[in-house]
Amino acid sequence: MEKKEMIFEINRMKEQRNAVILAHNYQVPEIQDIADFVGDSLGLSRKAAETDADLIVFCGVHFMAETAAIISPDKKVLIPDLEAGCSLADSITAEQLRAWKADHPEAVVVTYINTTAEVKAECDYCCTSSNAVSIVEAIPEDREILFLPDKFLGGYVEMVTGRKLNVWQGACHVHEKIGDINLAEKEKEYPDAEFLIHPECGCSTSCMMRSSVYYDCKDGHIYSTSGMLRRAQESDADEFVVATETGILYRMEKENPGKTFYPANERSVCEFMKMITLEKLYDSLKQDRFEVHVPDLLAKRALRPIERMLEIG
Ligand code: 13P
Ligand code: SF4
Repeated sequence: MEKKEMIFEINRMKEQRNAVILAHNYQVPEIQDIADFVGDSLGLSRKAAETDADLIVFCGVHFMAETAAIISPDKKVLIPDLEAGCSLADSITAEQLRAWKADHPEAVVVTYINTTAEVKAECDYCCTSSNAVSIVEAIPEDREILFLPDKFLGGYVEMVTGRKLNVWQGACHVHEKIGDINLAEKEKEYPDAEFLIHPECGCSTSCMMRSSVYYDCKDGHIYSTSGMLRRAQESDADEFVVATETGILYRMEKENPGKTFYPANERSVCEFMKMITLEKLYDSLKQDRFEVHVPDLLAKRALRPIERMLEIG
């Protein structure tokens, strides 16, 4: 089938089934272009909570589609490829978390949204890269906190809040490697550029340690993916070095003609995000696959920390 026809058919099936297509900022350009909403984990969760569509087709990775299914239990949620996983979500199991909690029975447990439903069900609060600081700040200062699973996001939250957290030592294989880049050299290479850094990055902690002011490093800012997109639009800079998955550059360039964006590392590609293609989206709508269903009891337990997060911000 010709691409044009496929796009027409996807839109037709979407209308016919009262479906909404949600896509993460790292998706391939064709998917971003056809989606009804493109955003970060928090924005996508909010959209899943708000939508009056009957069907959500989630173009992202499995934990994101699962979160949508937990938030909207009365809606059908499809993911075009069930293999689209996440190395960070795989870095902790519910069993490991239960053992960790047993060693810290009084602690409040905060999980990054990049976890399975089984892990979320064991937690008190959920957070994303855009609200992790506010969530931790909302917990009374005298409470011990277990923060999981990302060690770099945990380190970032510790630095910004000044609180000591017990941080699980997980990491995303894509962002961890961004720690190998030498920021000082990049600054020499692009002296006029502003640095946009995702807190999952291995370089985010070193960037903040060099910082004298709050979480801004010399000319660098740490944001969620949608925060980076906002900053790219609002900043007066003409050049940016972008430290996250390279899929975000498509939207940055599209929304900011005249500005130039350099990936901190052009090999920062999440193979899981790239598993979702236009062909698979077409098949998903046509063949009603692959449904992401979370059993009722588990969904109810996993919903609690997500709802608490959405109430805070
Ligand atoms: P954001 O919520 O910032 O989009 O991050 C999600 C993610 O998986 C980053 O790798
Ligand atoms: Fe998971 Fe990393 Fe891919 Fe984000 S970039 S979805 S954290 S594997």
